[in-house]
Amino acid sequence: MIVFDKVSKKYPLGNFALQEVSFEIDEAEFVFLVGPSGAGKTSIIKLILKELSPTSGSILIDDEDISSSSFKKVTQLRQKIGVVFQDFKILADKNVFENVAVSCRIQNLSHLETKNQVKETLALVNLDKKERVFPIQLSAGELQRVAIARAIVGERKYLLADEPTGNLDPKTSWEIMKIFQKLTGKRTIIIATHNSDVVNSLQKRVLVLKEGELIKDKRKGGYDL
Ligand SMILES: Nc1ncnc2c1ncn2[C@@H]1O[C@H](COP(=O)(O)OP(=O)(O)OP(=O)(O)O)[C@@H](O)[C@H]1O
Ligand SMILES: [Mg+2]
Repeated sequence: MIVFDKVSKKYPLGNFALQEVSFEIDEAEFVFLVGPSGAGKTSIIKLILKELSPTSGSILIDDEDISSSSFKKVTQLRQKIGVVFQDFKILADKNVFENVAVSCRIQNLSHLETKNQVKETLALVNLDKKERVFPIQLSAGELQRVAIARAIVGERKYLLADEPTGNLDPKTSWEIMKIFQKLTGKRTIIIATHNSDVVNSLQKRVLVLKEGELIKDKRKGGYDL
C-alpha cells in the first residue's frame, strides 16, 4: 500500500512541484496518473522510488515511512518496485533474456529460478521467440515489452511506468497498454501518461494533477485533456 500524506516537493531551483498531495493506493490497484506537462507526475514516481525526498509531508510504503530521515532500506524498497520509462532503458550489449535476467539477479533469485521466471515473463509479453535477440534488432514496441518484462519478473509488488507509450505510435501504444491491463490485480500498477484515449477507455482509477496539486481522484474514470 502507498500513502501520500500532504506531500509537498520543492526543487532547490524552482517552485513547488507538488503541493500537499494526499492519496492512498491499495494493494493490486491500477492507477493512472495524469495531468499536463509539469503537473508533477514524474516527481511522484521519483518520490516513490526514493530518488527524491519530500520537502514536507510523509510517504508510507507498506507501512514504512520512506520519507523519514531514519529510513535506510532503499535497496530493499527498490527490489520490490519495477519501473518502465518512456525511453525503454534497455541494455544494448545484452540480449532479451539477459536484460530481463538482470532484474532477477537484483532480487537474488537462483540460477534456476531466473531461467524459469524469465521464460515465463517473456511468454507473458509475447517475446518468447526473441530470447536471444539483441536490442538493435527489436522494434520500439518490442523494446518496451522487454522493459515491462524486466519490471515485472520475479516477486516485484509494484509496477511504475512514466509515459510508457510516449515514444510509440497509437497501435503499438495499445499493445503495450493491453499488457499492463493483463497484469491487473496481480500487483499495484501506477502509470503516468498523457494518452487520454487509453485512460478513457480502460476505466481505471485516475489521479489528476495540475500544477502540483491533486485536483481529482476518480475511482473509475476518464480523462479530458
Ligand atoms: N530537477 C528539477 N529542478 C527544478 N525544477 C524541477 C526539476 N524537475 C522538475 N521540476 C519542476 O517540477 C514541476 C513538476 O515536474 P514533473 O517532471 O514532475 O512534471 P510531469 O507531470 O512529469 O511533466 P511531463 O508531463 O512534462 O513529464 C515542473 O514545474 C518542473 O519544471
Ligand atoms: Mg514527467
